[in-house]
Amino acid sequence: MFSLNVEKIREDFSILNKTINNKPIIYMDSACVTLKPKQVVEKINQYYNEFPACAGRSTHKLGKKVTEEVEQSRKTIQKFINAKKQEEIIFTRNTTEGINLIANSLGLEGKKVLGTSKEHNSNLLPWLNGNMKYDIVKDKDNDFNFEEFNEKIKNTKLVAMRHTSNLDGTTIPAKEIIKIAHENQALVLLDAAQSIPHKEVDVKKLDVDFLAFSGHKMLGPSGTGILYGKYDLLENLKTFMLGGETVFDSNYDSFKLEKPPEKFEAGLQNYAGIIGLAEAARYLTKIGKDKIEKHEIKLNNMITEELNKIPEIDILGPNVPESRSGIISFNIKNTDPHNVASMLDASNNIMVRSGAHCVHSWFNANKLKGSARASLYIYNTEEEADIFVKAVKDLVKIVK
Ligand SMILES: Cc1ncc(COP(=O)(O)O)c(C=O)c1O
Repeated sequence: MFSLNVEKIREDFSILNKTINNKPIIYMDSACVTLKPKQVVEKINQYYNEFPACAGRSTHKLGKKVTEEVEQSRKTIQKFINAKKQEEIIFTRNTTEGINLIANSLGLEGKKVLGTSKEHNSNLLPWLNGNMKYDIVKDKDNDFNFEEFNEKIKNTKLVAMRHTSNLDGTTIPAKEIIKIAHENQALVLLDAAQSIPHKEVDVKKLDVDFLAFSGHKMLGPSGTGILYGKYDLLENLKTFMLGGETVFDSNYDSFKLEKPPEKFEAGLQNYAGIIGLAEAARYLTKIGKDKIEKHEIKLNNMITEELNKIPEIDILGPNVPESRSGIISFNIKNTDPHNVASMLDASNNIMVRSGAHCVHSWFNANKLKGSARASLYIYNTEEEADIFVKAVKDLVKIVK
């Protein structure tokens, strides 16, 4: 297996040719949003320049063209996650919308929903907000705790867990979890926001019932996402939002709903975003997720090895980079993580995120304020990893 041709990949990202204060940009905030390659930007522009019309409604030539492009995009995403049918792919704005759709449509009132101790607010608040019984399985030494899961799965209606954590990059053993959930008559929704961009996710192999992810974390346009659901489950799901496109007929006192996915896609859609997202999926497929994962772990290893030598630094999660994907979430003793991020930005244009990363629940439970988080992707280089390590070492000397 060949490794990533990072130099060639970087040519596709125009922002990486730019400088700020005569220094290159070192973008390590891809868990928030990734940069966009020119192929995706061109595809978005193609919609606005060549067929800026409505899909699924107008019969004129431009209408037909955009309808074709949107349906082709659905097929691309179907292939990307290996879904059985294209009708199992629902276009959303983001992971959050997909999860809220399930929370509001599955009939979970009074029912038990099970998560983990490291859920993003988007996969926590929708369950706390409804009248559901919410519980969590806590990691044991940073590993998924099957003992606790086997106890808590009883009488659970829905397991709603993050696949890969945005907090520390750890990934749960989804296939085994799903098998046990199904043996206990529970459905499973995977929050795949942080796994889809980095590793192979095959909904058939996993046998997952629902899967939500965002386009903007996988090189796609902002405000794009996907909710996957097994077709028979989608057919029986209530609709969360109603309006144009969700029905095929209506009277003053009644309406007839469309089938999935249309019944969930209310109102005019983000056509440019949808076709841009499909282009991002094609781009990632061409590169190969196995190479992407390997590249991130190589850089994570380089960084972790050096940061481990600094006693003032504490890395969140397991001390094995192979288990943390492309994420290095860390704290420097007695230093506010926001200051760490600002200083890295000021000194070297190193862009990392700081704070609670929308996982306040975990930080509160662990009595921590937050962390600085570097998240790596296909365009990060070994040279950047070295600059990052040096910048952090310099910073430690300053704050000591
Ligand atoms: C694990 C995880 N779940 C859900 C989300 C929410 O994604 P979005 O804001 O795109 O809906 C994020 C975003 O960072 C995330 O990392």
